[in-house]
Amino acid sequence: MKKRIAVLTGAGVSAESGLGTYRDNGGLWDNYDPMEVASIQGWYRNRSKVLEFYNMQRAKLADARPNAAHIAIAELEKDFIVDVITQNVDNLHERAGSTHVVHLHGEATKVRPENCCNDDDGFSEKTVFDIGYGEVHLGDKAPNGVQLRPHIVFFGEAVPKLEEAIELVAKADILLIVGTSLSVYPAAGLYRYARADAPVYLIDPADVPLFDNRIVHIRKVATEGMAEFVATVRA
Ligand code: APR
Repeated sequence: MKKRIAVLTGAGVSAESGLGTYRDNGGLWDNYDPMEVASIQGWYRNRSKVLEFYNMQRAKLADARPNAAHIAIAELEKDFIVDVITQNVDNLHERAGSTHVVHLHGEATKVRPENCCNDDDGFSEKTVFDIGYGEVHLGDKAPNGVQLRPHIVFFGEAVPKLEEAIELVAKADILLIVGTSLSVYPAAGLYRYARADAPVYLIDPADVPLFDNRIVHIRKVATEGMAEFVATVRA
């Protein structure tokens, strides 16, 4: 019986693909105010500014490629059942070959009518569709005639996939955390659901506020840290 690994990733796993992180020096939030471009208040205040921000994210993603860390995570599926739970809105895990990816904060290549996928319809994703690396502008409507919005969990919105993510962490035999500052809840609290007997590994070149002394911190960048992790779990 294959063991289960839950892999919780953040922007750091995509840093070596050339996609910025959020809070490192020069990160996205140094150049943009998340409350203007990634919050529900920002959306209602200025939809065009939010649409342009995600048009830019999609354009950058078109030129990005999965790095060796994404590929190593995907290749874990040869020997383990792997559940990737990512805070990232990029599609690099899927493009590297990971077959089970839960996007806690949505997906940059997807859009939906702004009146769907919320409390009223039980966060149904039946009207969500993938536009790849295209653009969306004010006035671009869905088939239901409503303005399109990014399929992103904005600050101030619920995280519909949280329960699913908690279940995946709670049943994992191993938890691996890669490249997240664990700054944003509820994603930041997910590691606390790891089973008491499950080893927990963190790959990050910086210190991360983890309140659990069992965590093995591989203080390296994702591509190098994944090589070390794979050697450890395959030993
Ligand atoms: N390899 C591994 N980790 C790295 C690398 C790298 N090459 N470069 C940076 N890191 C680490 C940083 O040390 C930091 O701990 O990645 C982490 C990036 O942290 P953030 O920029 O805060 O990104 P993240 O944790 O994913 O942010 C969470 O915040 O704004 C919201 O929705 C947004 O999903 C995002 C959430």
